[in-house]
Amino acid sequence: MKELFGVIGDPISHSMSPEMHNDAFLDKGIDAHYQAFHVKTQQLQDVVIGMKALGVKGFNVTVPHKTDIIQYLDRIDPLAKTIRAVNTVKLENGEYVGYNTDGIGFYTGLKKELNESCFSKNVLLIGAGGAARAIYYTLLHEGLERIDVCNRTKTRAEELIAGNSHAVESRALSLDEAEQLLSRYSLIINTTTIGMKPNIDEIPLSLNNLNSDSFVSDIIYNPFETALLKEAKAKGAKIQNGLPMFIHQGALAFQIWTDVQPDTERMKSIVLQKLGG
Ligand code: ATR
Repeated sequence: MKELFGVIGDPISHSMSPEMHNDAFLDKGIDAHYQAFHVKTQQLQDVVIGMKALGVKGFNVTVPHKTDIIQYLDRIDPLAKTIRAVNTVKLENGEYVGYNTDGIGFYTGLKKELNESCFSKNVLLIGAGGAARAIYYTLLHEGLERIDVCNRTKTRAEELIAGNSHAVESRALSLDEAEQLLSRYSLIINTTTIGMKPNIDEIPLSLNNLNSDSFVSDIIYNPFETALLKEAKAKGAKIQNGLPMFIHQGALAFQIWTDVQPDTERMKSIVLQKLGG
């Protein structure tokens, strides 16, 4: 009998995960099906109970359930506990265990593009929400010197860095302060939704002080190049969109569920097809 996997979120119809994972199951000869489920917050507990009763082997969790889901799971992996968000759940000996592959997915995609020297320098994270938490706590383990966090609501950035028990230096900044200090950073990562469709002309902060040899990464992949990335490119910076993060968080989830490493190039081409080439 086919094993069942899925993704829960609200909204969910835009999700590219079903195509990506179903193709990977086919490619690896695994008899399984991955289904998107539209789940409202008030249904979350019933859905988790129902999924377990049906023997659903694993599922992804997306906006807005990544934090709320934690209370309904049996166990949480330490990284997901630190991040306080789960994007991947696996049925293990009858228990649902929560993981977070967003941060490692981001870092895996980044490493492929970035030369090592950027990692000895300064990093600026824009945003202090769930995506920022996943990336921040993953990067803390990667031996960077400094990771500063700027956010519209500075207190949220302060809360985020308060959990840093590593030797990495961190400072919370307002968006204005970050704009002034921008030339210090070799790697700038936008984790906010600013610039996402349909608000494609919006930019999280001014790039007037951007260093032309810096690297600017945006976790958004729709549009493929946000206004932030366009402007950074025009200033000579190297850029990366959110597609590698999406692919690698999915690939890591696939590995957690099946112990099989999927073909990430194939996953990428499936998503690019869905995005319209
Ligand atoms: P996610 O879990 O997807 O990261 P989130 O927790 O809602 O989503 O966080 C969204 C991030 O984008 C926050 O850093 C938010 O800033 P605030 O903490 O000040 O709300 C930021 N953000 C969203 N819309 C914004 C806007 N129009 N201007 C500036 N920052 C914005």
